[in-house]
Amino acid sequence: MEEVIAKGVDKADTGWKEYAPEKRITKTINLSQLNTTKEDRLVTNDAELNRALGGGIVGGSLVLVAGEPGIGKSTLFLQIGLHLQGTRTLYISGEESEQQVKMRADRLKAVNEDFYLLTETATTTIFQEIKKLRPELVIVDSIQTLQSNFIESSPGSVSQIRECAAEFQRFAKETNTPVFLIGHITKDGSIAGPKILEHMVDTVLQFEGDRHYAYRILRTLKNRFGSTAELGIYEMTGEGMRPVSNPSEILITQKEDQLSGSAIAATLEGLRPMLIEVQALVTQSVYGTPQRTVSGFDLRRLQLLLAVLEKRGGFHFGMKDVFVNIAGGLKIEDPSIDLAVICALLSSFEDIPLSQHICFAGEVGLNGEIRAVNRIEQRIAEAEKLGFEKIVVSKYNKKGFNKQSFNIEIMPVGQVQEVYERLFQVV
Ligand code: TYD
Ligand code: MG
Repeated sequence: MEEVIAKGVDKADTGWKEYAPEKRITKTINLSQLNTTKEDRLVTNDAELNRALGGGIVGGSLVLVAGEPGIGKSTLFLQIGLHLQGTRTLYISGEESEQQVKMRADRLKAVNEDFYLLTETATTTIFQEIKKLRPELVIVDSIQTLQSNFIESSPGSVSQIRECAAEFQRFAKETNTPVFLIGHITKDGSIAGPKILEHMVDTVLQFEGDRHYAYRILRTLKNRFGSTAELGIYEMTGEGMRPVSNPSEILITQKEDQLSGSAIAATLEGLRPMLIEVQALVTQSVYGTPQRTVSGFDLRRLQLLLAVLEKRGGFHFGMKDVFVNIAGGLKIEDPSIDLAVICALLSSFEDIPLSQHICFAGEVGLNGEIRAVNRIEQRIAEAEKLGFEKIVVSKYNKKGFNKQSFNIEIMPVGQVQEVYERLFQVV
């Protein structure tokens, strides 16, 4: 256990009564006498952020933004602040110098008269500045660099992070000012830092993606003011983050000729339908132990699918190296991608290309059965919108939608073997 010694400073002077005098502070009320007011939301011009937050920034909300170092948190939130014309925004940087932030802002090519920068790590100084400036939005980059005088331990320690966040929580609630706290997490996401804050904040956004690829997802892990099924998608460019309003178009590689080993999955990320290309490569194993390599897909899931193909379909992957890759560096957890993975594997195994106008949505069970997936209508509609001619779905999904309402051909299948016969044994 970490020992915490509170310094002999009077906490009373950190109140925000004079800052927002009209606001009542701790008093029992009768809930039925309280009128429901519509949440006042600050709608930014970043549609992806608005969506992730459930329709804009809620007044007085405390939002934690977690992500691995280098993923683009500072870039995104500097950009969001710079684009918020007319909202007095304070960006507190404890990591970078004024010059560094300025250089980044130049790169983003955005100017904003209402944007203020403070490079400081001591919360006492920060709150003095806040009292002077009275910002309407505060961005803290990052929570790990801050230091409170009330706690005698080094920045980044659990008690410092918790105390600093608590000070911002008090500020946010008592002044109705929204605050974004940026926090680093390590690869496994388990680090003490942001995790310990999850219960204190209203919303947790996770910024994720593969650093070697351009796509980033702003995923809502917790939201007191909206759905956690929402997410925002960005593309990292040389001039900042570009919100991606139609993800499907970029996640399918446009190519001239048909190559084997590729299949398109109609997946859902959060509530958003998204068509994604799955690539598989099956080759004769050179070494004694066959390799299984995945990128963006679960390795154990691949092993399971290979076992199903072996047992239920009689395909011998035992002496083959198998590689599976999801386009765009995205990590897909939606099980409906199984069917596309199986088809990509079979396509590479047989060296028979699949038509580019066909896509897939189905989970594969241990008995080789193609299982129904949720929100099938949304997936079909997205496939149709993008000009696909055919979508392969589970026959158990048939009840879930009205076939007549779609123009796209819908092909229901029940078993892995049946998929093979109908797609790869066309004579
Ligand atoms: P950064 O926002 O510093 O990440 P974080 O705050 O999450 O640690 O992003 C770092 C990377 O982003 C860095 O490798 C440079 C790159 N970058 C761009 O690709 N385009 C840009 O416009 C900017 C400002 C940065
Ligand atoms: Mg940063």
